[in-house]
Amino acid sequence: MLSFYAVPTILALAATGAVGGIIEPFASLAGRTDAEIEHFIRSNNIVGGRPAPGPIADTSAKLVNDEHHPWLSLLPFQIRGPCVCPGLNTLASHGWLPRSGVASPGQIVTAVQEGLNMGWDIAVLITYAAMLVDGNPLTDLLSIGSKTFLTGPAPPKPAIVGGLNTHAVFEGDASMTRGDAFFGDNHSFNETLFNQLVQASNAFGGGKYNISAAAEVRFNRIQQSIATNPEFFFSIPRYATAFAEAVFPIAFFVDGRNTGAAAFELDLTVARGFFQDSRMPRDFHRRDGAFGLDATGEGLSFLINAHFVPPGFNKGIGNYVVDEETLDIFENGFQICALYDFFVNKTVELYPVPKAKGVLRQALAQNLANFFLAVKTASSTCPEQFPYGKVHN
Ligand code: HEM
Ligand SMILES: *[C@@H]1O[C@H](CO)[C@@H](O)[C@H](O)[C@H]1NC(C)=O
Ligand SMILES: *[C@@H]1O[C@H](CO)[C@@H](O)[C@H](O)[C@H]1NC(C)=O
Ligand SMILES: *[C@@H]1O[C@H](CO)[C@@H](O)[C@H](O)[C@H]1NC(C)=O
Ligand SMILES: *[C@@H]1O[C@H](CO)[C@@H](O)[C@H](O)[C@H]1NC(C)=O
Repeated sequence: MLSFYAVPTILALAATGAVGGIIEPFASLAGRTDAEIEHFIRSNNIVGGRPAPGPIADTSAKLVNDEHHPWLSLLPFQIRGPCVCPGLNTLASHGWLPRSGVASPGQIVTAVQEGLNMGWDIAVLITYAAMLVDGNPLTDLLSIGSKTFLTGPAPPKPAIVGGLNTHAVFEGDASMTRGDAFFGDNHSFNETLFNQLVQASNAFGGGKYNISAAAEVRFNRIQQSIATNPEFFFSIPRYATAFAEAVFPIAFFVDGRNTGAAAFELDLTVARGFFQDSRMPRDFHRRDGAFGLDATGEGLSFLINAHFVPPGFNKGIGNYVVDEETLDIFENGFQICALYDFFVNKTVELYPVPKAKGVLRQALAQNLANFFLAVKTASSTCPEQFPYGKVHN
């Protein structure tokens, strides 16, 4: 493990005198100079963008905590940083994703389907959005964690070390079980916060985390951040992801052999296993049937309607300002075209069009095309954008 990352680093240093530090194979290339990118291309396995995998054929409930996917705890020297996402963390701890926590977007799309029966459309949507802003387009790798001590010194800003823990692009505030980045730790499991989830589930879900409990947890965390975090940010895209993530545990952490109402009620011990230990319960079966964008949209609407909070941000503690521009986007429910435009804009901001050349340009075009596949299934009216040209394949 150590030598795999250390050896190329030393060779690269010797060969070039290190242009601006070493870029890890999974780090975002946003903000890098032409020289750094050329150097990166010479010293890494460049595969570029690849077409997204398709939907899995069999979406029945089945045993997924099986003999081929045992839970193994993280070894101290493993590269995986603590991850913000209990879904991906669990898949990595069970070997549905590489246990290193560094994966291609294609591996992630397949693993969330196979391991938890996430619907193909939402899997592609979230994964390629994350890949565009936090992944490395040249190696086609994304870290589900963050920088660790193995990833070396941080590069100068605005370069992004990479990984899903990068704040304010994909990772965001008011998480259910993780603190806001403002308080210094945006990724560790927080017992106090998990207890709030338990209390809400006892009060509103009869001792289970159901959609009524989820609505309270979501609302309470927003109020808590408004009251304590002077830099609280809760507008696009966080506004959409925060509500979706409150629905996910009900959709994906409940055993697929449960039927009726019980199929949407999450036991709190099981919840703790996923959130705290990234661990499926013994004999865990994934849900029966894929849970995709439509179903997520319904859950999301339930939460927003239960306690409406407009998208916005704090200007100092307790002073929540509505983001008027984004309010339009969400006024008529969840607007997928605006979310698409946001990520296209963000990508272009990170990788200015004239600077993106050759394989980098093709990879960005491919990942945008992959992202659009999911957008198109949700709405046939969003105009596709081609800032880096069209993909030829
Ligand atoms: C498909 C690829 C996925 C990506 C790229 C992804 C990424 C992320 C990221 C970046 C966050 C952090 C947001 C924050 O700051 O709270 C997050 C949170 C979360 N994700 Fe995922 N995720 C994926 C799939 C899943 C799946 C399959 C589940 C299954 C349950 C899941 C469940 C959650 C939950 C529950 C949270 C919120 C954690 C909390 O609020 O404490 N995700 N995810
Ligand atoms: C998120 O947490 C990591 C690890 O504690 C930290 O290095 C990083 O600076 C945090 N992000 C922000 C924006 O605070
Ligand atoms: C957990 O979250 C609570 C509430 O925001 C906070 O007061 C506490 O400091 C956090 N604990 C840790 C260990 O970060
Ligand atoms: C959640 O559980 C509580 C307690 O059993 C129940 O009153 C409530 O109706 C449930 N919510 C939904 C949406 O079924
Ligand atoms: C994306 O950028 C275009 C052009 O600058 C702008 O008109 C549009 O409002 C932006 N959309 C979003 C969602 O950021």
